[in-house]
Amino acid sequence: MPNPSTFPVLEATFTLKESHRINITPQLMAQALQYSLSSGFPPFVAQLEELTEKIHAPPDVCERQVVVTVGSEHGLSMACGMLINPGDAVLFQEPTYPGLLALLDNVQAHLIPIRSDSQGVIPSLLRVALDQCTDRRAKFIYVNPSGSNPTGVLMREARRREIYSIASEYDLLILEDDPYHYIQFMEENSVSVRSREAGLRMTNRRLKYRHHEPQLLQEVPPSFLSLDTEGRVLRFDSFSKTVAPGLRVGYVTVPKPIGEKLVLDILDNILHASVLPQVILREVLKTWGHEGYLQHMRAVCELYRRQRDIMVEAVDRHLNNLCEWTVPDGGFYIWLKVLGVKDTKTLAMKRGLEKGVLVVPGAGFLADGNQPSPYIRLAYSVINPDNMDKAIKLLAEAIREEQEEYRSCKTSST
Ligand SMILES: Cc1ncc(COP(=O)(O)O)c(C=O)c1O
Repeated sequence: MPNPSTFPVLEATFTLKESHRINITPQLMAQALQYSLSSGFPPFVAQLEELTEKIHAPPDVCERQVVVTVGSEHGLSMACGMLINPGDAVLFQEPTYPGLLALLDNVQAHLIPIRSDSQGVIPSLLRVALDQCTDRRAKFIYVNPSGSNPTGVLMREARRREIYSIASEYDLLILEDDPYHYIQFMEENSVSVRSREAGLRMTNRRLKYRHHEPQLLQEVPPSFLSLDTEGRVLRFDSFSKTVAPGLRVGYVTVPKPIGEKLVLDILDNILHASVLPQVILREVLKTWGHEGYLQHMRAVCELYRRQRDIMVEAVDRHLNNLCEWTVPDGGFYIWLKVLGVKDTKTLAMKRGLEKGVLVVPGAGFLADGNQPSPYIRLAYSVINPDNMDKAIKLLAEAIREEQEEYRSCKTSST
């Protein structure tokens, strides 16, 4: 350990939005700048344990451990490295988060994508895939159950229970990657699947987001961790979408034997996550208190709900008859199927960009990225609402041009 008297930064004050101030005193700053434990800055870990208990109330069937990670990506990366030997089978919802695909590629996993519907992984397909997986050991199923990236789908409680029970039957671990947990748009009279035919019913979108222990959101489905009566869930949380991604702080909640291995991995590779961001977060959470924390999450969720509504309205105005889509139940994204276009790579990477619109082609979310995909992913998280109409109008132009190209190719080939 270096001598703290050599540290050049003495103290700091941060001003929060609600004009609260947090003061990192010289004593705390000395801790924030010093080496710490691989499992995380202990007072912060204790706070996260308390939060997990309040929000998820995991069944008391095994000892669990909370470990601080450098964003949830770090946790996922360690879990893949720890659990997968080359050739081991891994099941995951498809389309899926591309970061996971990159990690699975690194460890040479055998990929078994499971098609998803408007509620996430389809249980019957999961079962078929597991029955067919006789020649190799399936290690885990990866789910991104709330506001899924890229589809915006929220897995409802019955589906979660069904997936959990299949995992139990086939003795699979469940990797629950849930960075959009607090960004769920539960609505009265929820009409969640829309298409050109169904039209839009935007009225009465009231978010049911009330404080109700042990769950944060009334009527929000329980997390897999809350359902984990057998100690088979590895849960990945992140402050990236709800506080600030640049802090690079996430945490995993896992059965203790797995936690111990993760801590060793951290010790061997990075010693520990940066302490200063953990100290800042700890002070912010302490200042907010539990109710303040929930209030912040409600405000974050409300902002994204408004962003979603404005974008969905623009999509409905300009993309009717060009695309089909599902109104997202959470997260940052709208997943659109472009009609009459077999693959959206040119549309996304060329035509859209030329018009100044950035969307992601669907193939990027598939296990085999060379496969054609008629889908694109839009993000409503960061775009200024004043620009949404213009952006979607330009996208409509790009889509029409691409559809025309497909039509003329078809005509010339016949
Ligand atoms: C589903 C999903 N998992 C994990 C991550 C990584 O988040 P973090 O910033 O916590 O590493 C993202 C980021 O976009 C994501 O969408």
